[in-house]
Amino acid sequence: MAADPHTRAVHPRTPATPVGRPSTPPVYRTSTFEFATSAEFAAVIGDEEPGYSYSRIDNPTSDAFAVAVAELEGAAAGQPFASGSAAISTTLLALLSAGDHVVAQKHLYGGTHHLLARLLPRWGVAVSFVDGPAEAAAATTPATRVLFCETLSNPVLRVADLPAYAAVARRAGAVLVVDSTFATPLVCRPLELGADLVVHSATKYLGGHGDATGGVVAGSPDLLARVRQVRVDLGGSLAPDEAFLLLRGLRTLPLRVERQNGTAVALAAALRGHPAVESVLHPSLEEHPDHALAKELFDDGRFGGVVTVSPRGGRAAAAALCDGLRLARVVPSLGGTTTVVSHVATTSHRQLDDTALEAAGISPAAVRVSVGLEAPTDLVADFSAALDVL
Ligand SMILES: Cc1ncc(COP(=O)(O)O)c(C=O)c1O
Repeated sequence: MAADPHTRAVHPRTPATPVGRPSTPPVYRTSTFEFATSAEFAAVIGDEEPGYSYSRIDNPTSDAFAVAVAELEGAAAGQPFASGSAAISTTLLALLSAGDHVVAQKHLYGGTHHLLARLLPRWGVAVSFVDGPAEAAAATTPATRVLFCETLSNPVLRVADLPAYAAVARRAGAVLVVDSTFATPLVCRPLELGADLVVHSATKYLGGHGDATGGVVAGSPDLLARVRQVRVDLGGSLAPDEAFLLLRGLRTLPLRVERQNGTAVALAAALRGHPAVESVLHPSLEEHPDHALAKELFDDGRFGGVVTVSPRGGRAAAAALCDGLRLARVVPSLGGTTTVVSHVATTSHRQLDDTALEAAGISPAAVRVSVGLEAPTDLVADFSAALDVL
């Protein structure tokens, strides 16, 4: 070993590999990996040998997260992404070329809607927005390559009829891509119902603690190989530190989802009868248009952890409800440990005026509630107190 401190500083002795493997996946906090020979490097980066070369391409911690989600979704393969939006945009770009056509459910996360309505047409991809599988079937053309929908839509919580969408996709020779962020694999597994790919914003329930941003796609190895190639080209890969936090969150996903889903049922039932409430949307309620479909497609007793409440009194009442809550906080995003609320018309759907909101079935007073892990009675009391003074 050279004696010069400059050389020693960048070439420290590597400790011997200890006996015993780490019991949780370590953070491979490195952008590069080292090889014994150039031939080994060439074989790995050329995908002739399994291995790691560069973390934008693959990283063991990020892969561990994608594999864990794929297992929960019943998929043979998964790919990790820097965000849910990276997962969705990369997946679509992997499946589409100029001249192709997409059929997408019209109730979608705003960012996905923007990607489909504004960005993809710039690359010669045509998009038709539809309301349900019958309209989807009518909209397909010989150029249709992708059908896109969300298991549970934001904020009106419509349930996608996934087997019917899958049948439409099969007839059209298209790939059915389902964003299951709001549902999680503990409520519904779209691949079991005929979807080809399932995507998630892992920033929400999968990570579950509001401290990491990520995304994931799961499905067959063939489709995932195409998605991986475009991820490598575009570079929206998941960082290992984020992957570590997401993996840690994932271990308690079943417990969190069980709790949040149960509390959401209790909250929806309690608020529905309050005199200051105009409407409550949650698929657990019998009057919800997709109550029967949710019972058919979702695991027993699960209806998702988001409830949308509209107080009487329009936008002002919605703002007053949000501001009057003591336990629930005004925070964007969802799926975390604390209950958070957002006034839909002034935040996630701010681009829509009242006419457009009505067309989308959204009340100007709608408040989206992502139910956390608090005691259900405390949460019901918090909402009741805020509603009582409206
Ligand atoms: C249903 C849904 N899909 C995708 C996304 C995008 O995820 P991310 O913010 O991790 O990019 C969001 C974000 O709110 C979402 O609600």
